[in-house]
Amino acid sequence: MILKVCIGSACHIKGSYDVIKIISKVIEEEGLEKEVELKACFCLNNCTDGVSVDIEGEEKIYSFSRENAEKQFKEIVKEKIL
Ligand code: FES
Repeated sequence: MILKVCIGSACHIKGSYDVIKIISKVIEEEGLEKEVELKACFCLNNCTDGVSVDIEGEEKIYSFSRENAEKQFKEIVKEKIL
């Protein structure tokens, strides 16, 4: 699975780099390095609800934040892998 985190200006202001750090930490902790490839990307046209996260191949854009990144990852992304 390819997971793309927006680093466009609106999402950057809302903490996309922290979201990336949090997600990579969770990927490592959960041993999901082979299952999930984390990438940064530019604007996903969901600026008001950023930090925007896209699962490649899906229509939906997910809204992450520093506060909910770990929970969102475990509830949305991990669910789709397992
Ligand atoms: S800047 Fe992230 S969706 Fe536009």
